[in-house]
Amino acid sequence: MGPNINKEIDNISTGINFPFVKRNAGKCTECGGEIMEVRGELQPCGECEKKEEMKKEIAQAKKSAYMNVLDKKYYDCQWEQYKLDTKRQENAFNKIRFFVDNFKLGKWLVFYGTQGTGKTFLKNCVLKELGKKGFDIYNTTTKTVYNEYLDTVNKKESIIEFNKNILKHDVIAIDEIGRVTLTESVKNFLFGLVDDIYLNNKTLIITSNLELQEGEAENEEKRKDIAAFVDFERIVEKSLIVPFTWESYRLKK
Ligand SMILES: Nc1ncnc2c1ncn2[C@@H]1O[C@H](COP(=O)(O)OP(=O)(O)OP(=O)(O)O)[C@@H](O)[C@H]1O
Ligand SMILES: [Mg+2]
Ligand SMILES: [Zn+2]
Repeated sequence: MGPNINKEIDNISTGINFPFVKRNAGKCTECGGEIMEVRGELQPCGECEKKEEMKKEIAQAKKSAYMNVLDKKYYDCQWEQYKLDTKRQENAFNKIRFFVDNFKLGKWLVFYGTQGTGKTFLKNCVLKELGKKGFDIYNTTTKTVYNEYLDTVNKKESIIEFNKNILKHDVIAIDEIGRVTLTESVKNFLFGLVDDIYLNNKTLIITSNLELQEGEAENEEKRKDIAAFVDFERIVEKSLIVPFTWESYRLKK
């Protein structure tokens, strides 16, 4: 290194003057942004290089197996896209981030409340993060469990195997608890599955539009809250429970 180069480096670190750098020396053919010339040579566009880098990262992520279990609509979901318009949302959001950052297998997550408040969106953010950490994920809905259960019965296949296959995963996410009316046998299957998740110290993540009511109902048969599908005490013992009680973002659009 000659003394001249050292001088140039000095200039860079003090940021005073760069005789060898010409800003705004040309326009990027891709985005029209300004590009620099350094020692007579036009440089690649910084913005476009950044974009290119991000595209590569996304392509890489899409190859990861855990991306395949996400709900298609929320494939590209990111924490940053979730708007925090109220204090309650901010609280909920922070608790969920804390849950993920300090995640331990066997901890559960329950999102319940108003439609269109981002429960499924945030569930996918959570699953993506747990997938990155290497946990094996099973992502489903009550409707799908219902159909798969009936299909298994119709084909005279083993319900025990069906149950076992779900339990192979670390994290079992079941969306839309209470959205479809379940037959008694599917309800029993779901209760049993949740009990197995509990006994095997796996993680359950559920979302629901139903309420979560404390204690025993007067008439358990007619019970309409989440506890009609998942044992209330197990939920309370294991879960971070997050109520989503603000306005729907679907209606805002
Ligand atoms: N806080 C938010 N910021 C930005 N977009 C949001 C927010 N909450 C929800 N949305 C958007 O609103 C739409 C509905 O969200 P989502 O499907 O997650 O709601 P949900 O609570 O699961 O509703 P449902 O109970 O009907 O299943 C999605 O397009 C989602 O991206
Ligand atoms: Mg949803
Ligand atoms: Zn550019």
